[in-house]
Amino acid sequence: MIPLGTMSAMQLLSIRGATVCQNTVSSIESCTQRLYEQILLTNNLGVDSNISAVFVSMTRDLDACFAARGLRKYDVPMFSSVEPNIKGALKRCIRLLVQVNCEYTKVAQHIYLGGAKTLRPDKAKFVVAMDGPAGSGKSTLAKIIAQRLGVVHLDTGALYRAAAIKLIKTGVYKEGLTLDLDRLSQVLANTTIKMDYDALISRVYLDGIDISQDIREPNISRIASIVASNPFLRQYLNKIQSQVASQQSCVIDGRDIGTVIAPNADFKFFVKASEQERAKRRYNDLVRKGQSIDLDSVMVDMKERDYNDSTREVAPLYQASDAILVDTTDRTVVQSVSYIMRHIFGKNG
Ligand code: CDP
Repeated sequence: MIPLGTMSAMQLLSIRGATVCQNTVSSIESCTQRLYEQILLTNNLGVDSNISAVFVSMTRDLDACFAARGLRKYDVPMFSSVEPNIKGALKRCIRLLVQVNCEYTKVAQHIYLGGAKTLRPDKAKFVVAMDGPAGSGKSTLAKIIAQRLGVVHLDTGALYRAAAIKLIKTGVYKEGLTLDLDRLSQVLANTTIKMDYDALISRVYLDGIDISQDIREPNISRIASIVASNPFLRQYLNKIQSQVASQQSCVIDGRDIGTVIAPNADFKFFVKASEQERAKRRYNDLVRKGQSIDLDSVMVDMKERDYNDSTREVAPLYQASDAILVDTTDRTVVQSVSYIMRHIFGKNG
């Protein structure tokens, strides 16, 4: 008989995990094995730990083999089942529940890999990076993707725009002149730029004042793109972005997210569209907001920003080698969103 004192120091710990795979024998086996090993590794367990059972479930669209086959070599008692076929649920998903007898103080670290991270944004932090030029549609897409995944959206362009407003107000920005570094650092030391996520929609505050509307003026777009080439300003704004990305699951859009801010992002997209299409969208946006402007000047302004953004020395705009290209020229917003969601949900763990 086990003495009571010893029993109370033990617990049956249940650890959850999920991953996404292709419907082939090798993908099902290797993804299940990788998930199991990751659960053990992260929870500081060995294959010889006192594992009492592993429950394995598969979605109905996986029928090439039993996922449990991938775990046979570990010689643990397993039980397979099929997930209910719920409309809109994550496809090609394998879930594990590992039960282990261990010390009472141990806390389960649940593991979600690849597209399965989106199942529990609260438990598995993930970052979706979306880069692209003006008018490509990245901010619109980022906002919708964030809402779909139930995570916050960080529009980093808004931070650069807010900084531009501060630099204009304080006279640090002067048309045609290089920013004075001493004044810039003094002003930034006395600046607070904060993003707030009200019902997942981001708002920007400069020194406590909501400037979410002001930052959308065309002149601010232009000056934001000029001051964004300053390395000191970028460093200052990078800190705000890294902080958001390290604290929670999020979708971040900008110019250097997949390359500088979150090079290890779980999902990376580069959004582009033809120059004509981008200028037309920006023009329609401004007209809708009641501004009187002509298409040609929108095009000139956009080309200038494209040039600034892609040729600056620090963090220029380019497609990260591991980013998925999303060309929105001939796609509707709905089509682009489902293209991106398919990539996110389908990414193997
Ligand atoms: O919405 P749109 O694409 O027109 O611009 P935005 O994303 O709000 O960014 C405004 C400007 O900030 C851009 O032209 C870039 O020069 C700069 N920016 C940047 O350098 N890096 C980022 N991560 C985001 C914006």
